[in-house]
Amino acid sequence: MRFKDKVVLVMGGNSGIGRAASIDFGKEGAHVFITGRSRKTIDETVADIPGGRGFVADIGDIQSGNDVLAAIREAHGGIDVLFVNAGIGAFAPAPEVTPDQWDEVHNVNLRGCFFAIQKALPQMRDGGSIVITGSIGSIAAVPGNIMYAAAKAGLRAVARILAVELLPRRIRVNMVSPGPTDTPIITRTDGVTADQVQGMKDMMAGVVPMKRMGTSEEIARPVLFLASDEASFINGVDLYVDGGCLEL
Ligand SMILES: NC(=O)c1ccc[n+]([C@@H]2O[C@H](COP(=O)([O-])OP(=O)(O)OC[C@H]3O[C@@H](n4cnc5c(N)ncnc54)[C@H](OP(=O)(O)O)[C@@H]3O)[C@@H](O)[C@H]2O)c1
Repeated sequence: MRFKDKVVLVMGGNSGIGRAASIDFGKEGAHVFITGRSRKTIDETVADIPGGRGFVADIGDIQSGNDVLAAIREAHGGIDVLFVNAGIGAFAPAPEVTPDQWDEVHNVNLRGCFFAIQKALPQMRDGGSIVITGSIGSIAAVPGNIMYAAAKAGLRAVARILAVELLPRRIRVNMVSPGPTDTPIITRTDGVTADQVQGMKDMMAGVVPMKRMGTSEEIARPVLFLASDEASFINGVDLYVDGGCLEL
């Protein structure tokens, strides 16, 4: 019960890694608030979190987080843990990237995440904790991953600088960077067949030294660790949770 009576806001908490973390925060006693775009999966997730509450908010739209922040203010006053996890994938070789594609990815994965944190900060309690989902893609040279990698690398810089700027408030800021993880992000591209999804999963598992993809729960556990007081002397790290991809 590391989060007993703590107020936890998970942005992108209704699918994959965010859903697993939201449920785990709830199991450990937190008052969990989640956001996402899909009302359906928000409701399904909240149903698995006793006392959990869900709000539709597009992280790319700066004003859309107003409702969840107001609800937290009213119910609890402040936020103890902010998990900024929303993200979208995008693949295209550099010569084919269009400005619109670039903007779409960066609007969510970098600009949106930054301004969502900026907006939540006045409500963060001193001594709280922020965890941001990065990606090993931010430092791995994966062909076709240039838009996503650049956004996540920018987010890494955001995390590092926030970790310093928030020292006076004793708010720790850390990043968890997953390697290939079996979540719905892989199946989201329109028109992708079941065979293509399986091919993609096999390819992703193949680059992991452990020869398998991670699970959402295996990423969520380190998120909860970094968010908890157990990690009280850890600040500004980017923890690779990748089955050894970058280390071995
Ligand atoms: N899976 C991997 O292999 C992997 C590897 C490295 C990093 N990551 C990162 O891990 C994070 C979670 O991804 P996942 O793998 O768990 O994929 P996922 O199942 O697709 O989850 C993505 C989450 O982000 C939310 N989201 C996306 N765009 C949003 C927007 N504009 N506004 C608000 N919420 C938005 C989604 O909500 P909706 O469903 O409502 O859109 C969902 O909750 C992402 O940041 C991703 O980049 C994943």
